[in-house]
Amino acid sequence: MAQSADRYTVQRILSIRRWTPHLFSFRITRDPGFRFVPGQFARLGLPKADGQLVWRAYSVVSAPYDEYLEFYSIVVPGGEFTPLLAQREVGDTILVEKMNYGFLTTDRFESGKDLWLLATGTGLAPFMSILYDPDTWRDYENIVLAHSVRTVAELSYREEIARLHEHPLIGEAARKLAYVPIVTRESMEGALGKRIPALIESGELEGAAGLPLDRERSRIMICGNPEMVADTRKVLGEMGYRLSRRAEPAQLAVENAW
Ligand SMILES: Cc1cc2nc3c(=O)[nH]c(=O)nc-3n(C[C@H](O)[C@H](O)[C@H](O)COP(=O)(O)OP(=O)(O)OC[C@H]3O[C@@H](n4cnc5c(N)ncnc54)[C@H](O)[C@@H]3O)c2cc1C
Ligand SMILES: NC(=O)c1ccc[n+]([C@@H]2O[C@H](COP(=O)([O-])OP(=O)(O)OC[C@H]3O[C@@H](n4cnc5c(N)ncnc54)[C@H](OP(=O)(O)O)[C@@H]3O)[C@@H](O)[C@H]2O)c1
Repeated sequence: MAQSADRYTVQRILSIRRWTPHLFSFRITRDPGFRFVPGQFARLGLPKADGQLVWRAYSVVSAPYDEYLEFYSIVVPGGEFTPLLAQREVGDTILVEKMNYGFLTTDRFESGKDLWLLATGTGLAPFMSILYDPDTWRDYENIVLAHSVRTVAELSYREEIARLHEHPLIGEAARKLAYVPIVTRESMEGALGKRIPALIESGELEGAAGLPLDRERSRIMICGNPEMVADTRKVLGEMGYRLSRRAEPAQLAVENAW
């Protein structure tokens, strides 16, 4: 899709971190005018060989107070965008739409005490930004982050999560976090091994988090594989959890990662 230059800015890649052959994170310069709320996404653009621009949605990993923008990407073989993105090097440019987007933000909720962040794959990205936000730690008594991936190597950001207590804006509040890694196609000590909906049904997710799900207290955000989002919503729906809307605050906020 072609776009006029007044709708985007041109930014530069500052660093790249490759987690696996098909997963990487990268930081880019940030236009001072680009604002977002943790959990939102940007639209990134690259030119194809024929000069046409191709645009894709990318959840922001970094915090609103960071001078850069960080993103976490899969490489889809044969995809229109990600093979181009994966070839970019530090110093190369990338386009960023001026608008921010999305409703996977904690201001969707009212009066919760426990925040549950349930992700598969790159669905982790918006939750990292939410975890870097000091307001999250102020607003909730407990935070659970469950990240489901196929293989151990795909448990990206584990170190960053383990080091949140060293973050100057979070510090000892990081004790509120229960990180629950889930690896579904390998075994890993300390990780659960089934899909998120099954872990909710069996009570194993609550067991690993050390916290019960409770409609009064729990506020649940779900992001990742669209089938996971649908299956998890179904299980939670049967337990009485509803999508939170501005006019009708409830317990769930969801986003499909593609
Ligand atoms: C709101 C929103 C936020 C998004 N945030 C991110 C993000 O933070 N990081 C990211 O890598 N992608 C994200 N995506 C997906 C992203 O927009 C692209 O789809 C992705 O970069 C692949 O682009 P592509 O052109 O190479 O392949 P596409 O033609 O866009 O996708 C081809 C197929 O690849 C698979 N696929 C696409 N994206 C993913 C993914 N993230 N994980 C696993 N399988 C996938 C799906 O089966 C899809 O049908 C987001 C999408 C939406 C709608
Ligand atoms: N991961 C790889 O090794 C790899 C390598 C190259 C290419 N790819 C391609 O990249 C795409 C995305 O792969 P990905 O591994 O990032 O994402 P994914 O297939 O969405 O898997 C990520 C996690 O989500 C879980 N999941 C999938 N469907 C679910 C559902 N309905 N309910 C609950 N949990 C569910 C998976 O469990 P399950 O394991 O039970 O499915 C896994 O733990 C795929 O098209 C894949 O073929 C993947």
